[in-house]
Amino acid sequence: MASKLTAPVIAARKVRNGCDPLVMVTAYDAPGARMVSESGADLILVGDSLAMVVLGYEDTMQVTVDDMVHHTAAVARAKPSCFVVADLPWLSYHVSEADTVNNAARLIRAGAQAVKLEGGLERIRMIEAIIEAEIPVMGHLGLTPQSVLAMGGFKVQGKSTNAAMRIQSQAKALAHAGCFAIVLEGVPNEVGKLITDSVDVPTIGIGAGPDCDGQVLVFHDVLGIEDRFKPKFVRRYGALKAQGVEALAAFAADVRSRAFPADDECYHLSDAEAEALGLYGSPVIPRPPDVEDQLGVW
Ligand code: KIV
Repeated sequence: MASKLTAPVIAARKVRNGCDPLVMVTAYDAPGARMVSESGADLILVGDSLAMVVLGYEDTMQVTVDDMVHHTAAVARAKPSCFVVADLPWLSYHVSEADTVNNAARLIRAGAQAVKLEGGLERIRMIEAIIEAEIPVMGHLGLTPQSVLAMGGFKVQGKSTNAAMRIQSQAKALAHAGCFAIVLEGVPNEVGKLITDSVDVPTIGIGAGPDCDGQVLVFHDVLGIEDRFKPKFVRRYGALKAQGVEALAAFAADVRSRAFPADDECYHLSDAEAEALGLYGSPVIPRPPDVEDQLGVW
């Protein structure tokens, strides 16, 4: 197994320098983390998309630091070989530097190796405070889901020259402040390339085109567990929702037809114990009526 990545190693992973693109996938629990790790991905993101794909909320603004700590710890317990980044949820890095650093530290103590937060120039002070506490920070620009109310919906960003240049200057500021990588979400390909070319740290795109230094997708989207809505940038590599429903329906049918459980899926008493209980060896079905009377219940 390749040795685990570190923030400084990731910071140097630019495709223009001949590096392979980074692969990041979200995970929210131990089985998911084991799957992502065994797939050979470079990074796991314990994303605040947790809110929407696992907890059933309409947007990411409902998720709390406690929720993120709980799920980060579950991911870390799987001991994935990937570098683990955890999202700082909305309002956990907006109020004061002390709160921000304490919240970031909770995610690190839960098992993350870095934290991610959304936003540009308005977040530089908090990013610097976290980095001063020796915690690596990944930035997130473009369509930042925690700004869904301010943006008026989940809308592609950077579509005008001014908007693209604003994201470019934010990316430069984040890199200058010390972010080791930047997620670029929901921007035109050309803007993805402009920003990737403008910074020395890797960009990891989601709906930001092929020129980023890596790509990230949500676990439930890649596997087709989430099948209600498919954003343009999602490619499904599985149909686990459909397979899961089919498997569960087969279980229900077997229970109802009594095909489940089969004898080799059952525990049995030894003949001696069965006999001591007045049963007739194993299997004990069908029971004679007098045995049912002796036991009183069944
Ligand atoms: O929360 C998340 O899953 C994310 C990715 C979409 C980048 O931030």
